[in-house]
Amino acid sequence: MPSIAATAAKPIFSAPNMGEEEFVRWVDLLERRTGVVVPLGRKSFLVTGVRMRMRETGYDDFHNYFNEVLSGARGAVEWTTLVDRLTVHETRFFRHEPSYDLIAGEWLPEQARPGGTGAIHAWSVGCATGEEAYSLAMVLDHGLRSLGDNRVFFGVTATDISNPALIVGRTALYPKERRSEIPEPFRSTYTEDRDEDSFAIVESLRKRVGFALFNMLEVARAPLKQLDLIFCQNVLIYFARERRKHLLEVLASRLKPGGLLVLGPGEVTGFTDPLLTRVGGRQTLAYQRVG
Ligand SMILES: C[S@@+](CC[C@H](N)C(=O)[O-])C[C@H]1O[C@@H](n2cnc3c(N)ncnc32)[C@H](O)[C@@H]1O
Repeated sequence: MPSIAATAAKPIFSAPNMGEEEFVRWVDLLERRTGVVVPLGRKSFLVTGVRMRMRETGYDDFHNYFNEVLSGARGAVEWTTLVDRLTVHETRFFRHEPSYDLIAGEWLPEQARPGGTGAIHAWSVGCATGEEAYSLAMVLDHGLRSLGDNRVFFGVTATDISNPALIVGRTALYPKERRSEIPEPFRSTYTEDRDEDSFAIVESLRKRVGFALFNMLEVARAPLKQLDLIFCQNVLIYFARERRKHLLEVLASRLKPGGLLVLGPGEVTGFTDPLLTRVGGRQTLAYQRVG
């Protein structure tokens, strides 16, 4: 068996098709380790990701590569790269505008009123390459300034299971054509030209966002507590229904009273929790902690 550290990409590669039993084994591993469920209809996505990584590491047999991924410390290191290939990182700035409108128009003015706690701590769970976390930071910074409340400080913790995605987030450089995703006045206030191809998030905003590798399945052990805002969009949608419910209950317990949990519309149905009340209009899926 080739050692992953020692092998270079092979020019000729011919992994066989992945049989049903092999597919089930990979699906099960991914679900246990990340929560992500890959239905049969998305088999080609999983197979392409595994194959790509096998090619890079010199494997031509799914079974041997699977055993390598399971093998102790070496396998754990390989998994940190593979998991990036097996998860979807599609994202955009201000991906779901009504959610940001809810924060800016309703929730934030309530937080910033006299007697507020003086600090706002937000968490972007499953932040991918950082666009969601920076969008949140823009809305919080701009909103607090507009409300004229200088007492309130804020920070955004952005977490994901994919290290390569987090590296992009930390770099805070994005392709120029994506700048139009950011509406005014945020675009001119919080972004700047970097070079011909890219733009950057301004330093003052970057300082407000911290990125960390974190598996959401371990949320019960997360050191984050007493949060004001949890933003978790387009992550749970990949998880099994029962797991979604359990994770949401833990997320709810991490909010402080008055804190807001914002999901993507349609990501869960029929979810209730004694700690939470539904807020916002029909365009959003948001819950506020009541007690
Ligand atoms: C489709 S992106 C969503 C990005 C962003 N939240 C948005 O709505 O635009 C899903 C992200 O969830 C991350 N993810 C999947 N399973 C995860 C887990 N168990 N823990 C943390 N992040 C996870 C993926 O790596 C990916 O970056």
